[in-house]
Parts: sequence; C-alpha cells; structure tokens
Amino acid sequence: MNYLPLFHKLDHKKCLLIGGGSVATRKARLLLDAHASITVIAPALSEELTQLASASKITHLKRVFEANDTLNFSLVICATNDKQANSEISTEAQLNNIPVNVVDQPQLCSFIFPAIVDRAPITIAISSGGVAPVLSRLVRAKLETLLPHALGQLASLAAECRQTVKDHFSNSKQRRIFWETIFNGPVAELSYLGKHDEAKKQLLQHLHQTEDSPTIGKVYLVGGGPGDPELLTLKALRLLQLADIIIYDRLVSAEVLNLARRDAERIYVGKQRSDHSVPQDDINALLIKLAKEGKRVVRLKGGDPFMFGRGGEEIETLIDENISFEVVPGITAASGCASYSGIPLTHREHAQSCMFVTGHLKDNTVNLDWDQLAKPNQTIVIYMGLMGLRQISEKLIERNLAGNTPVALIQKGTTAEHRVIISDLLHIANKVEELKPKPPTLIIIGSVVSLHSKLNWTH
Ligand SMILES: C[S@@+](CC[C@H](N)C(=O)[O-])C[C@H]1O[C@@H](n2cnc3c(N)ncnc32)[C@H](O)[C@@H]1O
Repeated sequence: MNYLPLFHKLDHKKCLLIGGGSVATRKARLLLDAHASITVIAPALSEELTQLASASKITHLKRVFEANDTLNFSLVICATNDKQANSEISTEAQLNNIPVNVVDQPQLCSFIFPAIVDRAPITIAISSGGVAPVLSRLVRAKLETLLPHALGQLASLAAECRQTVKDHFSNSKQRRIFWETIFNGPVAELSYLGKHDEAKKQLLQHLHQTEDSPTIGKVYLVGGGPGDPELLTLKALRLLQLADIIIYDRLVSAEVLNLARRDAERIYVGKQRSDHSVPQDDINALLIKLAKEGKRVVRLKGGDPFMFGRGGEEIETLIDENISFEVVPGITAASGCASYSGIPLTHREHAQSCMFVTGHLKDNTVNLDWDQLAKPNQTIVIYMGLMGLRQISEKLIERNLAGNTPVALIQKGTTAEHRVIISDLLHIANKVEELKPKPPTLIIIGSVVSLHSKLNWTH
C-alpha cells in the first residue's frame, strides 16, 4: 500500500486553494462539503467561484502566489498550470509540514484525493494511488449503483439508537447480530424510504423481541422490465440481492433472474396461455404464507407490475392480511419495445396521445372501445394482441382508421431476439401469419411507426 487512507476533519479549518479555474472549482466544492474555511489565491476566478466569493462562502485574494502564502493554513491545494509555481508551493508547504496536493503532479503531493462515494456519514474513498484514476472512477460508479441512496439516513438512525442498543445487550456478539438483522431487514427499508420515526419504532420493538416472537416478512412487488437486464432500476437490483425468495413470472428474463442472490429460493408461477398452472388466488396465498413465515419475498413481474400485471390485485390481498409491502415500478413493454425500435410513442407531428390497451381474447372476441381507439393523431399500443390481431385490424378499419395506417409488431422487445415486423392495418395479420413471431409480442399502431425506418438504432 503506497498511501494510507485517512479521513481528514476540516471543520472550519483554514484551507488554501491556489488557482481559480474549473479544477480549482471542483476542489472548492469538496472542501465546502467538508465545511472548510477556504481562501483562494488566483488572478481570475471561474463563474462559480466568483459567486461563492460574492456570497462570502470563500475568501478571494486576486493575485498570483507569493512566498510564505501557505503559512498558517492546515491544508494546501494547488490547481494552477504554472509548473514552477506548483513546485515552489509544494516545497514550501512540505517544509512547514502542511499537507499539500498539486493537481495532476503526484510527485509534488503529500496526499492525494480519492474518488468518493458520499452517503454521509458513510463515506467511501477509492484510490489507485494516482496510477489509474479512471479505474478508480469506474469502481466508484459500480459502488454508487450498489449502495442505497439513503444509506446515510440508516447510519444516522443507528447513531441515534447506538447507546440504547449498547445498554440492552451484555455482549458484543449479540449486538453485532442485532445490527446485522436491522441493516438487512425491514427497518433499513423503512429508513431508505425516509420513514425515520416508523423505522426507529420498529428498531426498538425488535430490541425487546424474544427469540420466539414471530417476525413478519415483507413483500416487494418488483417490475423486472421488458427483458434487457440493464433496464432494471437500481432499487429492483438491490431488492433482488436481498430477497430470501423470488416468485417470478414467465415474462421475467433469465438474465434478470440471474441477478438475484445466489442462495435465494426461486418459485416459478408463470402462466402459459394453455396451462393456468398457478391460479392468481394461489399466488396471493403463497405471498401471504411466505411473508407470515418472516421471509423477504420479491414478487418479480415482467415490465411494470401496475401495467396489465395484476399488481393491484396482489397488494389488495396483502393489505387485507396486514402484510407490509412496497411496489417498485419497472420499464413497461411499451416503453422498452418503442425505444429499442426507434418508434417514439408520441411526436409533435404524428401523435399527441397514446392509448395502452389489452388485446386479450375473451370468448374469441376482443372487446375494446373502438371509437375511442380509432382517432387521428393517436398511438395505440396493444399488449397481448397477437391472437386477436386480425380482429383488431378489421375493427379499426371499420371505424374509419385508414388501411394504410402503419403498424409495428415487436417480438421479445429489448432482448437478443428483439425483432420488428412493419406493415399496415390492411396487411399486418397476413404478414404475421407468414412470419410467425415468437411471444411475447407488442403491437404499435399509428403514424409514429413510420419513424422507425429513420430512427431505428438497434439493427
Ligand atoms: C400480462 S402483460 C404484462 C405486461 C407487463 N406488466 C409490462 O408492463 O410490460 C404481458 C404482455 O406484455 C407484452 N410484453 C411484455 N414483455 C414484452 C417484450 N419484451 N416484448 C414484447 N411484448 C412484451 C406482451 O404483449 C405480453 O403478452
């Protein structure tokens, strides 16, 4: 290890920043975050530094560096392009044992800046010792996606309850187990949601629980997006890594499922059109049973749980049984398929509204409000419309939508098997019969489809 990471307390300490350009501005921001008292020496300042000086947030000395300028400061940062001055500043500061950093000249530094993940009071510093700063930033970006944004709130809650927990347990092992349970459970989730008082209440309740008190789990209704795992939300990813059990549908892609915790149990409840293997009531009952066993259950659905996903029905039963839950939205098939096909769902010159409908057949008919659908300047997105496609096209033409209205049928949108079939209302049913796309498929009808030939970027 060439550098020992230490965290420097700068609270109101006098820090000297030499230089007034964009790099100096970035350093000033960091120093201000750490509540330092900043003096900037520079003949000219960036706009942001000028504003900070006018607001008396920093002190500005409008000139170049002079000998002995560094004396009486606790920290010196040099961000000028003048190599001679940089070297003099570094020598003077180091002679006086003042920590000094010269931007992009590690040989002149007595300390270096790490890449920072800030979830104050939790702070993570990453460094490559100055040899591969881009790699440090990459590691930082990965950590940013893994750590909940509100981790700091949880740390503050822990700080508030630390003494009470310490007084409660006689040994440190019990304390450690208690905190591990808290940081991995519903209290942490409540804190991330900003429900501080409720989180604190549950934490204290947990403290007084005996070993045989029942623990009630929680259900997370999570949208898994249309297929491409990179379209998952950060929250969905975090919950997949936390879950004890994942209950998933047919539409959840294998790549998304692979992101779940390795030892999480997985239960498939997917419904095939011909085989209603797990009825909705049984799924609801399963969610309740598992939550009552104290499990953290992720109910993972394709797309968004509230878009033709029966998410509402599932949480209704959870409410009836007093089981706590969260709903995590996902990218719905319409957004995923449209974006990955270069078909904007609205466009100033083509469509000012968009209807999302299900084309599901009931008793061999599609029952929709055809007059509402067959309107000009409107995009129609049809979920589950493959079987009823011929009927849908005929009905829309009957209600005066032109036979040459463009139609796109998208197979397995956003996945490696994403495929777009383009036609018009008159011909789409025949074309689809001929090409036999694989489900799931989504249908987009309207003038916006004509933009596909120009805007398609996925080829
Ligand atoms: C029961 S609905 C669920 C919709 C889901 N909740 C959503 O927000 O995307 C299933 C239908 O969504 C559409 N669908 C879902 N994922 C799709 C994909 N990757 N490509 C094309 N269509 C998709 C299909 O029309 C499929 O029949």
